Amino acid sequence: MANRKYIVGNWKMNGLQSELSDIADIAAIASSHPTVDAAICPPVTLIAAASSQNAAFAIGAQDCHFSENGAHTGCISAAMIKEAGAGFSILGHSERRADQHETDADVKAKAEAVHAAGLGAIICVGETEEERDAGQAIEIVCGQLAGSFPSGADAGWLTIAYEPVWAIGTGRVPEVSDVAEMHAAIRSKLAELMNGGSEQVRILYGGSMNGGNASELLAVPNVDGGLVGGASLSAEKFGPIIEAAAAA
Ligand code: 13P
Repeated sequence: MANRKYIVGNWKMNGLQSELSDIADIAAIASSHPTVDAAICPPVTLIAAASSQNAAFAIGAQDCHFSENGAHTGCISAAMIKEAGAGFSILGHSERRADQHETDADVKAKAEAVHAAGLGAIICVGETEEERDAGQAIEIVCGQLAGSFPSGADAGWLTIAYEPVWAIGTGRVPEVSDVAEMHAAIRSKLAELMNGGSEQVRILYGGSMNGGNASELLAVPNVDGGLVGGASLSAEKFGPIIEAAAAA
């Protein structure tokens, strides 16, 4: 049976209190499409307000530390994002892998930490343009997946997001055949890494998804949803993606 579609907005470093009304507008659209799981990951400063103002709508974090607590100035723990109202966290986004030098081992430890706190995880993987041009995309992505894969993972709390680095924020989207090939490769790798249940793990596509291309991308086999950056910042842009998922 096909997985329920999962559409997640990653607001990255965007959003002040004045943008909380956009989350309310998005939550209202999501509530009229109950066959789709939708969520927004605002900056950490908005998690508490967004979750208390939209009790029925899923709010996630964009990162958290792998330690329970301690001397890590500026970092946030899984228990902290949970207490603020997050139900899950994005982990290992390529911007964090590049800017904060996060390794696969860090991402695995973070995923295990969020699970221990009772939260879900979306682990991001994706190749650079140079790696794709060199014909290494599948090898790189499956390597990241294996290295970042938390022990004891199951579909109840783990989601994977395939985000080709060169498609993020660029308006460029891979060929549908390349998305299909990569998602099938990730599905096979999950089967290797798990003791059953790999078919139920949702694999999201991310990278310049918008209201114009969502239907085509969400129709690709093994694409169980989307991780959306720029087009998640307003209900006007994100609503059509949720609607496309409802129709998929
Ligand atoms: P864009 O949708 O802006 O390309 O961002 C994708 C992304 O990085 C989501 O995590």
